[in-house]
Amino acid sequence: MKKLTSIIFVFFYLLKFGFAGEGMWIPMLLEQLNEPEMKSMGMRISAEDIYSINKSSLKDAILLFGRGCTAEIISDEGLILTNHHCGYGQIQKHSSLENDYLTTGFWAMERSQELPNPGLSVTLLVRMEDVTKQILEGVTAEMTEQARSEKIKANTGKVEKAASEGTGYAAKVKAFYYGNEYYLFITQTFNDVRLVGAPPSNIGKFGGDTDNWMWPRHTGDFSMFRIYVNKNNEPAEYSPDNVPYKPKSHLPISLKGVEKGDFTFVFGYPGSTQEYLPSFAIDMITGVENPPAIRLREKRLGIFDSYMKQSDLVRIQYSDKYAGVANYWKKMIGENRGIRKLDAIEKKQELERRFSAWAMADATRSERYGQLLPRFEKLYNQLKPISETETYLIEGGLGIEALRYAYGFRQLVAKSSDKNTPDDEIGKIVGQLTASSANFFRNYNQSVDRDVFASLMADWIEHQEQSKIPSAIVQGAIVYNNDYETWANKLYTESIFTDSTRVKKLLDRYSVRKFKKIEADPMFQLALSVYDHYFSQIQPESQMISSELDSLQRVYMQGLMEFQTDKRFYPDANSTLRVTYGKVDDYYPRDAVYYKYYTTLEGIMEKEDPAIYDYVVEPRLKQLYAEKDYGHYGAKDGTMRIAFIGSNHTTGGNSGSPVLNADGQLVGVNFDRNWEGTMSDLMYDPDQCRNISLDIRYCLFIIDKFAGAGHLVKEMTIVD
Ligand code: ARG
Ligand code: ASP
Repeated sequence: MKKLTSIIFVFFYLLKFGFAGEGMWIPMLLEQLNEPEMKSMGMRISAEDIYSINKSSLKDAILLFGRGCTAEIISDEGLILTNHHCGYGQIQKHSSLENDYLTTGFWAMERSQELPNPGLSVTLLVRMEDVTKQILEGVTAEMTEQARSEKIKANTGKVEKAASEGTGYAAKVKAFYYGNEYYLFITQTFNDVRLVGAPPSNIGKFGGDTDNWMWPRHTGDFSMFRIYVNKNNEPAEYSPDNVPYKPKSHLPISLKGVEKGDFTFVFGYPGSTQEYLPSFAIDMITGVENPPAIRLREKRLGIFDSYMKQSDLVRIQYSDKYAGVANYWKKMIGENRGIRKLDAIEKKQELERRFSAWAMADATRSERYGQLLPRFEKLYNQLKPISETETYLIEGGLGIEALRYAYGFRQLVAKSSDKNTPDDEIGKIVGQLTASSANFFRNYNQSVDRDVFASLMADWIEHQEQSKIPSAIVQGAIVYNNDYETWANKLYTESIFTDSTRVKKLLDRYSVRKFKKIEADPMFQLALSVYDHYFSQIQPESQMISSELDSLQRVYMQGLMEFQTDKRFYPDANSTLRVTYGKVDDYYPRDAVYYKYYTTLEGIMEKEDPAIYDYVVEPRLKQLYAEKDYGHYGAKDGTMRIAFIGSNHTTGGNSGSPVLNADGQLVGVNFDRNWEGTMSDLMYDPDQCRNISLDIRYCLFIIDKFAGAGHLVKEMTIVD
């Protein structure tokens, strides 16, 4: 009976609203909120197969990878799969001019060749729990915002402690729906994660930043790692004695591929979305924050690029930095375009008008919600100039590598100038700085940074009033009469922090008196001025306004849920495990243009350009293409499928997430979104938003046929 009612419910629901593709859903609530719809779309497994605490389920194979990607376990020996761009930092760290794995790729042909990655960890979700009641215990509507957050903090501490004590697991409570609900996450983290394989960049990053955020796409965006544990199958720090992890579950892989209309779901860790912001916020993000950030990033990228083209060493040193800066640079451009094209601000305003009218129609409601929007407007107007300055500080000031690095010496100065500091404490700080300096200079080029400095300072002085710019920067511009080249040359020749031998000299025989040298250093002084400006002029006000906005947003969220009773609300992404589902689907990006839902190896050959780094095609790949030697990885129509798109609502952090079919088998690896859909973090448009996935068959083809690492495929569970 229950089943029948839910089927009828879904039927009418879909009839009324259609399937929108929008939403990032909470795994433990799928059965209640989504299972009927997922089944009506073709899913053959159950919500319990996806998330269960009673038996092993797909969730036991899903990992948070590093600081912000997803990975999945694909063998019973702890083999894991993620994107090339997620493992990029690790691949880069193992690369040198002699062993340029970025260019050539890397394949461990046996376990002993798998490379450790200190600092990299992966995390499994053991279980989650709704703890809203415990967290909001003692919280009343009359409380001040501060009293409320103190109460919540105390409750959170209690819940987390009770849940983790004696378990060996970590416990963390996270707020959902802007603090209207709270969930507890019990997790297990593994710290010995080794690099197993990565294709050359002209496969793993094919199309580079030119194709990034774009469809049609031909990037073989994957890399592989393995989790190692101690003899008891427990997480452990790296040790040569560690052994491959035996997981509770790993994903079966299907070679059947996908066709238009097929049900798929993406299971992973979306980082952050802001779907319920008022129009004023969208106006601020797209009008005040994005434009200077885009411009300042463009300047940095231009300089990186010109040096990277001239030197292989600089190319290796800056490849990861370049990718990071370029990624959100392009995303912001796409986001602004998408918001405009969608009339997102107008749509929000229209919703706000209806919301206000609804609120005003009832005395209780109008008391609770009537003043929300005017208050939002007032606060965002106050926040705009602050957030503009914050953008310049981050994208301008902190875009200078040596400045950020020099700031790391402030503790040494403080401790050295304090007579009560024991010697060994100084020794410890010097030791840490020596290690971090070695890391810093390994990927640092003084000329690049010097040019970046000159360019960013000129931009900043040109665009903001003096009172908003850190005083040392204003001073410098005056002293050098706006000749930024001369200023930069002098600064970079004089400062200790732009040269590894000068730093070495400072640290190698450090004595406390030397703090005066650091204090007098021009880069150190600039750094202090930039950070001081932030801490004194920006942070206090920005925090005050943000905390007021948070509480408004919490009430607004509640109001929206009351107002739109027939809408299913999903919580904004917050780096917790989510399920998003949709269908494999094509789209019409512009007038008269149609985009098919998949790409093939033919497209790689079409894009081939030996003169452009990002479009070089390896001879080996060309040979396989010419011979159509696709093994059992080719599609039925004889093509080699590379990537496909669908209406799964994803965001940053979903990269590396498994894309699963109706039977819960791995068919792809999520890695990007399309250009027309980059605004989906602020507003989702089912018509235009698509996630981009690597076809798992291309991935296996590269491992097996291209790299000759078939032993890895043998470990996997292939179902066809
Ligand atoms: N746009 C994708 C995501 O946001 C992939 C970016 C990595 N690739 C690059 N060319 N920068 O992470
Ligand atoms: N490329 C993104 C990531 O790294 C995914 C996205 O933003 O769609 O998570």
